Amino acid sequence: MTSLADRVREALTTVIDPEIRKPITDLDMVRSVEVSDGGHVVVGVDLTVAGCPLKSTIVRDVTAAAQRVDGVTDVDVDLGVMTPEQRAKMRSKLRGGNGDPVIPFSQPGSLTKVYAIASGKGGVGKSSVTANLAVAMAAQGVRVGVLDADIYGFSIPRMLGVDRQPTRVDSMLLPPIAHGVKVVSIGMFVPAGQPVVWRGPMLHRALEQFLADVYWGDLDVLLLDLPPGTGDIAISVAQLLPGSEIVVVTTPQVAAAEVAARAGAIATQTNQGVVGVVENMSWLEQPDGTRLEVFGAGGGAQVAATLSETLGTDVPLLGQVPLDIAVRQAGDDGTPVVLAAPESAGGRALRDVAAALGSRKRGLAGMHLGVTPVRSAH
Ligand SMILES: Nc1ncnc2c1ncn2[C@@H]1O[C@H](COP(=O)(O)OP(=O)(O)OP(=O)(O)O)[C@@H](O)[C@H]1O
Ligand SMILES: [Mg+2]
Repeated sequence: MTSLADRVREALTTVIDPEIRKPITDLDMVRSVEVSDGGHVVVGVDLTVAGCPLKSTIVRDVTAAAQRVDGVTDVDVDLGVMTPEQRAKMRSKLRGGNGDPVIPFSQPGSLTKVYAIASGKGGVGKSSVTANLAVAMAAQGVRVGVLDADIYGFSIPRMLGVDRQPTRVDSMLLPPIAHGVKVVSIGMFVPAGQPVVWRGPMLHRALEQFLADVYWGDLDVLLLDLPPGTGDIAISVAQLLPGSEIVVVTTPQVAAAEVAARAGAIATQTNQGVVGVVENMSWLEQPDGTRLEVFGAGGGAQVAATLSETLGTDVPLLGQVPLDIAVRQAGDDGTPVVLAAPESAGGRALRDVAAALGSRKRGLAGMHLGVTPVRSAH
């Protein structure tokens, strides 16, 4: 018969580190399990870093898991901190035995789909679309990360209601998780109210760091919220993530659509695919049910048609999202509309776009494998 300590250890395999999202037993965080007479258990847990912001969650989950074991009467958790050697070992384990940070999404065989949300003009709703797609997909069980690559105009932390920095484990960053989505933004590293004054090479380096030094874990989808236009960041994204694909956001306005089509056409130069077009601010529904087309009509379809022709592949219109106060309000409040008001006009349209994107298969994103069927010799 297994000892009580062994059964407690077994129970602890169900405790998941809230930031790394792996069992604490796999991360070598359980230092000791001591059982004394009468079923009193002391579990020694080593946190990755002393100021671990989620330590109360870990204590609660460890206590609950141990308490469920037959024969345990009460549980104490003795918190400690990993030594630098233990942390180095854990980092290397998380990187698959690879000590040096690499960009996991550009490794051969990466199964993560990477979508860069781009637009020609500013203020058309890229960040709102990014935040909503991310949480809508996460709610479907998709493992999603968001990288806010809009260095100057970051807005993702507010829209997703994230107000803390990633936890630093030496050189590795553990992203905060909001509404089930791992989130990293340049905004988390800039003192409030200060402008960011960086040039191209620094932007490139910052982006590279966010991709390599952040422990993203095994993601199905990574969304990048780009700044407007075809600037340095869009080019860096294409270089650092050659398998990434572009989602173009536009308003229905003809002038905006022309600029958006140009932003999408950058894909011909960078060899990226364009997954589709999202038209945002398409109309405002009037109390009598009629649609007021504030910014005109047809921009999304026009961009999709232009890009299909330029790129020689089918670029679909993924959806039309109406103007809706709920979209703006939910973004300001930090809970995207697909969660805050899923049945609102904006919430429904954005959920449809997420479903359209999510139905694309996970796997070898954007890579042209050039596989030809193998013929048998006879
Ligand atoms: N469908 C919508 N209905 C109502 N308001 C919206 C809608 N989409 C976006 N907004 C609002 O419009 C503003 C601009 O949206 P957002 O920040 O998402 O655009 P952006 O393209 O990311 O802008 P930037 O180019 O500055 O990064 C925000 O205040 C947002 O709340
Ligand atoms: Mg934005």
